[in-house]
Amino acid sequence: MAKAFGKVILAGEHAVVYGYPAIASVIGQSVRVEASYTNTPGFEFENHHLNARGDAEQLLEQLSPKLQSLLGERISKVQFKITSQIPGGCGLGSSAALSVALIRSALDLFGEQKNTQEVTDMALEIEKIFHGNPSGIDHTVIAEESLIWFQENKAKHIQCPKPFNIVIAITGPHAGTLKAVQAVRARYENNPQATKHTLEAIADITHNMREAIQTGDIKSVATLMTENHKLLGALGVSTPELDSLCKLAIDNGALGAKLTGAGGGGSIIALTHEPNRLAAVFKQAGYQALQTVVG
Ligand code: MEV
Repeated sequence: MAKAFGKVILAGEHAVVYGYPAIASVIGQSVRVEASYTNTPGFEFENHHLNARGDAEQLLEQLSPKLQSLLGERISKVQFKITSQIPGGCGLGSSAALSVALIRSALDLFGEQKNTQEVTDMALEIEKIFHGNPSGIDHTVIAEESLIWFQENKAKHIQCPKPFNIVIAITGPHAGTLKAVQAVRARYENNPQATKHTLEAIADITHNMREAIQTGDIKSVATLMTENHKLLGALGVSTPELDSLCKLAIDNGALGAKLTGAGGGGSIIALTHEPNRLAAVFKQAGYQALQTVVG
């Protein structure tokens, strides 16, 4: 059995696609994959919404040949049983966690040791099926299982002397990471100066957030999250629902809140000292809420 945790991006999504840094952390919710030799090879999903947008079959068709090219013919005799606590398509790394857990479970079955970098490289090949040409942050933070600074395909662990509580509120599946990334690209091409300015402002926030995390200045981490959210709005990837969920969080004691991941739907994260209370507020408003600790 192999397990891989989901992720949240604390700062820098979208900007990271253009070579700027981003900060991401794993969350407590995971995907589990059990690989076994069988006469009925393939994928069995217990409750994993591989792709809540309806192209799951198409993706699955590409998955087996990709796994075979990475791990060899022996994959054709393996069945993968997949269970997930991570809602699919909601910006929480469900596909990246699936990619990492699939690789780990197969290696485990074959009794093969690979280091984190090798697992990360293999998971990227799978992640490309789901997201085209991702920056690599999702499957990297998931394979690293920590809080990371990520830039141009390199990850560095960030020391966090004061761990903090995050509550995640989920609006439902977003329109797709690829679509959101393409929309930002179109904006960049139509209006390069303003878009570059926004991406640079996001990069400043990301630098300041790293400093705040390392010095245990949780209030500043939260304020920077809220600022990052506004800039993601300027990039066109927020929605009225995500904006109003961030407002709901702040009206209910959160120190800061932002959308996380590709946007256009999906999830927000809120930093709070009262996670139970805030999770109850989100649930009361009709949203699924998850709690996690960063650091
Ligand atoms: C998705 O979790 C993060 C994005 O920056 C896309 C990527 O980095 O590949 C929106």
